[in-house]
Formats: sequence, C-alpha cells, structure tokens
Amino acid sequence: MAFALIENDQRCIWHPFTQVQTAFPPIPIVRAKGIYLYSQDGREIIDGISSWWVNLHGHCHPYISESILDQSCTLEHVIFADFTHAPAIELGSRLLTILPGKMEKIFYTDNGSTAVEAALKMAFQYWHNHNPKTKKSRVVCFKHSYHGDTFGAMSAAGKNEYNQPFWKLLFEVDKIDPPLEGVEERSLVQLEEILIKGETACFIFEPLVLAAGGMIIYPAKGLDALMALCHKYGVLTIADEVMTGFGRTGTLFACDQLNEDPDIICLSKGLTGGFLPLGATACKQEIFAAFLGDTLQRAFLHGHSYTGNPIACRSALASLELLQNDDCTKSREMIARCHKRFCNNWKSHPKLLRCEYLGTLLALEYRSNHAHSYFVSMREKLYRFFIDRNILLRPLGNVLYVLPPYCINENELLSIYDMIILTLEGEL
Ligand SMILES: Cc1ncc(COP(=O)(O)O)c(C=O)c1O
Repeated sequence: MAFALIENDQRCIWHPFTQVQTAFPPIPIVRAKGIYLYSQDGREIIDGISSWWVNLHGHCHPYISESILDQSCTLEHVIFADFTHAPAIELGSRLLTILPGKMEKIFYTDNGSTAVEAALKMAFQYWHNHNPKTKKSRVVCFKHSYHGDTFGAMSAAGKNEYNQPFWKLLFEVDKIDPPLEGVEERSLVQLEEILIKGETACFIFEPLVLAAGGMIIYPAKGLDALMALCHKYGVLTIADEVMTGFGRTGTLFACDQLNEDPDIICLSKGLTGGFLPLGATACKQEIFAAFLGDTLQRAFLHGHSYTGNPIACRSALASLELLQNDDCTKSREMIARCHKRFCNNWKSHPKLLRCEYLGTLLALEYRSNHAHSYFVSMREKLYRFFIDRNILLRPLGNVLYVLPPYCINENELLSIYDMIILTLEGEL
C-alpha cells in the first residue's frame, strides 16, 4: 500500500523545491497529531520545523479543526468584492489590535508571496496615485533576503542563487547589507547613498531574521536606524513578517522589538495556525487613503479568487485565541529558554561557525569548506541524518535550524538536541 502511494505520487506529482531525478521518494504521511507526523509505514516523525514554519499549536489541534468544520457548514466561500462576512471582519479587526504600529486596514491574499506582492503594488501605486510622473519606483532590500517565489516577490529579494534562471526577467532592486551586530553603520551608509537619489518607493525587509537566506539573526537597533532613515527620506517601509509573525521571535511580531513602525506588514504562514493558506497585508491609514477617489483607476485593482476565504479566516481566529492564551506564552518562553541553554553549551563547538537563537528559533551554522549556500552537499547529509532518526529538520545549506510547533514539550525538544549533539560529537 505504501508502495502504491509512492508509485502513484511519482507518476503524477511534481514536488516543490525538489530535484525529482535524484531525490529519495517522498514519505507518505497518513495523519498527524501535535508535533508528530505518522507515516504510512508506521513511523512517528517529530516535526521540528512546523511544516515549513506554518504550524503553531501542533497538527490537527481540535479547537482549530472544529472551528473549520463549523465554518465550512455555514459559509465556505463568497466573492470578496461587493460582499463581506463576519470571519474576515472579526479577523481583520483582531489583527489590527495586535499588530505593531498604527495599522488601519487589512488586505487579504492567499500566501506569503502574494502578501508581499500586494505590499509592493500598494507601495508603487501609493506613489503613482500621489504623482503619476513619480520617480519613486525602486525597491531596497537586504542581501540574503527572501520574500517568496512569485515574480514581484522574487525580484524584491534581488538576484540570488534560488532565482538564477529568471535573472533577466526580474525588476532591478538596490541591495544593502543586513545590519549585523557591530557593522550597522555600513548598512546605514549604503542605504543613504541609495535614498539620496530620490528613486526609492519602499524598503522591504524580514525583521530580525533573514530566514530562507540562512536564518541570519540581527539586532533590532540597526533596523531601527534604517527605518528612521527611510522615514526621513519619505520612503515606505514594508516589514515581511511572513515567517517571524505570531510569536516566532519571542514577541508576538518581530516589529514589536523595534522603536520605529513599519508602514506595511505582510503576514501568512502561522496566520491560520498552519491549517489553511491565507495571507494578509496590513497598512496605515495614509496608504489606504491614497487609493480613495472618484475613479476606479485610483483603486487597488488587485485580488485573488480565494481572497478572505471564510474558513481560512475562522481558522486564523481560532489560532489567534490559542496563541494569546497564557499556556502558549509559557510554552514559547520554555522553548526560548531551552534554545538559550543549548546555545550557551554548544556555541563554542569547533564544528560550528555560529549557534544562536531568537525566541523559538534555534540556528546552527556548521563549518564547511564552501561559503554558505543552499546547494552545499552538507544539506542533504544533515537532512538524511535526522530523517533517518525520525526527526524532520530541513537545513538551508550548512545551516540547521529548529523551529518547532509551540506545543512541543521540554523532553521532546531535548530529544532533538540529543540528535544535534550526535552530529557535533562525531556521527557526521
Ligand atoms: C519572509 C518570507 N516571506 C515570504 C515567503 C513566501 O511565503 P509563501 O511560501 O507562503 O509564498 C516566505 C516563505 O518562506 C518567507 O519566509
């Protein structure tokens, strides 16, 4: 039976981020509960990366499952132009009360990439609506950033090793170094040289951690200075909280650790607790107001068929309730404490270039003969080492990270650390 599933999968499915010709066959998962994925051949696999960073409270959390079931029997979907519904309104107003800064409007999309697309288009059109002859049409981003796989989101991260086949099709951006501890000034100088030209529409950034680029953690103060400079030059700031949102970095949102407020925030991944695809782009009133007028041309002519899907919104509402419960806060604090202890014990290990944590994220960079790259062979070796021991960790090149669902308990977390320690103490 397991064989039939794999065989049929290989006959008709094209999997993402996979070299199908050389990859091991995918593992058929038949059910999941809490932090465990149960495979068809009886394995219990710990999900150490929250299924691509989406799952917050564990798989099949009954409260979210029941909310979804209930909503799907009441209103499953309705076109979101000219119509509205309670789940989207409740979620929008709830997000606005917890988001950092002065966000006033929520625009729904389907996933992280489309949340970013909407943010970029909002920023470009904001300047266009103010002045159709505006020169402000360039984007500033960090080196090593990642904002998604659609064309705008790909462009906004700049040319990199993920998107090489498309380089000649991407729009041009200006890249600056992320403000790593001790070299914040360099990023500030680079940014000012760009902003002074008056052509920048927006600065897009992953706050506090460049995730897909290698879980590169950087302190808040450098980002604050960059955002302040943008605000001085009248440039919009877009915080891509697709990965960092909903408690991952210790606070509810990474931007909660900043003094400056972003103008636009992108959300997805943990938004629905990991049950359903949903994206949201929040903006300040000033941005929304720039789209008001007598003509349809001035409006934001953008949207997706599943925009504001009621079941996805209901799932997000249930997830937010769980997230804001004291038990969840305590679990996140426990994870951060364990990560901190692990870092203190192992950060000087000779096999490691870097071992650091931020909230519920633990990141380790192994020494390698090659510069950090998604394509180094250590990635495959590390992945196989853990999956063979029933732990799902999916390294980014030679960077291994742990980003578990918040329901993980201390012993389960320690069991992941034990395997990591094996890789350090000789078994790899
Ligand atoms: C910071 C950030 N932005 C955007 C995205 C794209 O999200 P999605 O995969 O849902 O399109 C990702 C995905 O990893 C991300 O980490």
